[in-house]
Amino acid sequence: MIPLMHAIEMRSVTKRFGALLANDNVNFDLAPGEIHALLGENGAGKTTLMRILYGLYRADSGEIVVGGQPAHIASPKDAIGLGIGMVTQHFTLVPTLTVTENVSLGQAGGLAFDPKAARQKVADSAARFGIEINPDALVRHLSVGERQRVEIFKALYRNARVLILDEPTAVLVPQEVDVLFETLRRLQSEGLSVIFISHKLNEVMAVCQRITVLRGGRAAGTVNKSATTQKELARMMVGRETFGVTKEGARAQGEPLLRVDGLLVLDKKGWPALKGLSFDVRAGEVLGIAGVSGNGQTELTQALAGTLKPKAGNLRVGGRNLTHASPSQLAAAGVGRIPEDRHEGVVGELTVAENLALENLQDFTANGMLDHRRIRENAEKLIAEYQIKAAPTTRIRALSGGNMQKAILARALSRKPQVVIAAQPTRGLDVGATDYVRGKLLEQRDRGAAVLLISEDLDEILALSDRIAVIYEGRIVGILRAGEADAELLGLLMSGAKEMADGIKD
Ligand SMILES: Nc1ncnc2c1ncn2[C@@H]1O[C@H](COP(=O)(O)OP(=O)(O)O)[C@@H](O)[C@H]1O
Ligand SMILES: [Mg+2]
Repeated sequence: MIPLMHAIEMRSVTKRFGALLANDNVNFDLAPGEIHALLGENGAGKTTLMRILYGLYRADSGEIVVGGQPAHIASPKDAIGLGIGMVTQHFTLVPTLTVTENVSLGQAGGLAFDPKAARQKVADSAARFGIEINPDALVRHLSVGERQRVEIFKALYRNARVLILDEPTAVLVPQEVDVLFETLRRLQSEGLSVIFISHKLNEVMAVCQRITVLRGGRAAGTVNKSATTQKELARMMVGRETFGVTKEGARAQGEPLLRVDGLLVLDKKGWPALKGLSFDVRAGEVLGIAGVSGNGQTELTQALAGTLKPKAGNLRVGGRNLTHASPSQLAAAGVGRIPEDRHEGVVGELTVAENLALENLQDFTANGMLDHRRIRENAEKLIAEYQIKAAPTTRIRALSGGNMQKAILARALSRKPQVVIAAQPTRGLDVGATDYVRGKLLEQRDRGAAVLLISEDLDEILALSDRIAVIYEGRIVGILRAGEADAELLGLLMSGAKEMADGIKD
C-alpha cells in the first residue's frame, strides 16, 4: 500500500459564484494528526473551501498540495484516492439499506458482493476504529447521531486519513456532541487529521488544536487554541466582540395568552406529527420549545399559523377558541408570526413597502382602493424604526437574510400583538442580525406579550426563555424553568432518553 501522506496545504484559493467572492485568496494548512477548526459565520465560505478540497467544486485559482505533492482534485473520487473523506451537512445514506450495505455501496466487489464477508469486514473495521455501529441495523431505524457515525465510518472505511466534517454538531444533542468529540480524539490518536467546521466558539475551543477563521470569504487568521480566547475568536469572526443579548430576570407574569391543549396534527403523509401536545404561554414570558429538528416543530408552527388544521385539540388566544381560525383571523386576534422560512413569509416579487402592508391591507385601503401614500409612509417609518437596509421600493427578494427578517419582524411586531410566535427566528443570520432579532423578542416579552420561541438552537433557547418545553416525537416531554434547565438535562429530554412526567404545574 502507498503510504498516505496527509498534510494538506491550500494556497491562495479563490472561488466566485457569479459576482460573489465566496473564497478570496484563502490559505489553509492541515498538519498530520491535528484537529483543525474552520470557524466562521454563516456565509463566510467554509463549506465552499471544503467542497473544493473534496472535489465537489473547482477553484477559480489557487493550488492544493497533499503530502508535499500538487494535487488535482476534480471529483470526490480523486479526493478519496488521496485519503480525504468528507461528511457533508446532508447525509447520503440510503435509509432502506443496512449499515453494512451502505458502507459497502460502491466499493470494489460489485456483483461478487458477499453479505456475510462484508458484514464481518465492517464489524472488524468498526471495532478497530472504536466506532460503535450495528452492521445489521437498517439506516432508517437509526437516530441522526447514529447516522452521522455511519457516515464518518464510511469515510474511514474508504481509507480516509483526513476527515472533513461540515457542521457535524448542528444536528446533535449535547450528549451526542460529547460522543462525537471522543471519537475524533480517538481517531486523532491513531494519526488521522480532522477538519472540523463550526460557527460555535465553545466547540472549537473544546476539541481543536488550531483554528482558522474565515470572514466574508477571507482567512482572518489561524491561531493556536492554547494561545487564544473565545473573545479573540469572536472578534476575528465578526470583526467586533459579541455581547449577545441578556434578558433581565423573570417579570411578573400574567394570564396565559396562548393555550394549546391536546393538539393532534397529521403531517403531509398522514402520520401523526403532533400527538396531543399541550402547553401555555403567559403574558410577559418567553416559552422556548427546544428539540432536535423534525420532532414536530414545523407542524406546530403551521398549526399555530392556521395553515395546518388540527384533527383534535384546542388552540386558544386570550381565552378565545381559535382552533379552526384562518391565518388572517389569527393575525386579527393579535397573533404576530415570524415564520420558519422567511422566504415564505414574504412575497419576493413585491416591494418592501407592499410586503410591510401585506398582513393588514384593510388598514391601507380607502374606498376600496389601496392608499399608496399610506403604504409608503408606513414603510418609511418601519424601515427607520427597525433599521432595515432598503428603500420602500426595493423588491424584497433582493434583501439580505438579516434585512428580510427585520422586515418580517417590523410587520409582525408593529401591531403590538398579544402573542408572538417566532419559529427559528435567527436561522442563517449573522451575529449582528441575530442579536437584533433576539433583542426585539425580549422587548415584546417586556411589554407584556406572550412569546413562543420555537428554535433548534439550544443556546438561543437558554438565552431567551423563561420556561423551556422540550418537544420529542410530537409531544412535550418536559417543561422546566429557565433556572433549572441546563444543556445536559435538555439534551437528555431532547433525545427521548428521559421524560419528566411531572412538569411544572404552575
Ligand atoms: N453553489 C453556490 N452558488 C451560488 N452561491 C453560493 C453557492 N455556494 C455557496 N454560495 C455562496 O457563497 C458564500 C459562502 O457560502 P458557504 O461556503 O456555504 O459559507 P459557510 O459554509 O461558511 O456558511 C455565501 O454567500 C453563499 O450564499
Ligand atoms: Mg456551510
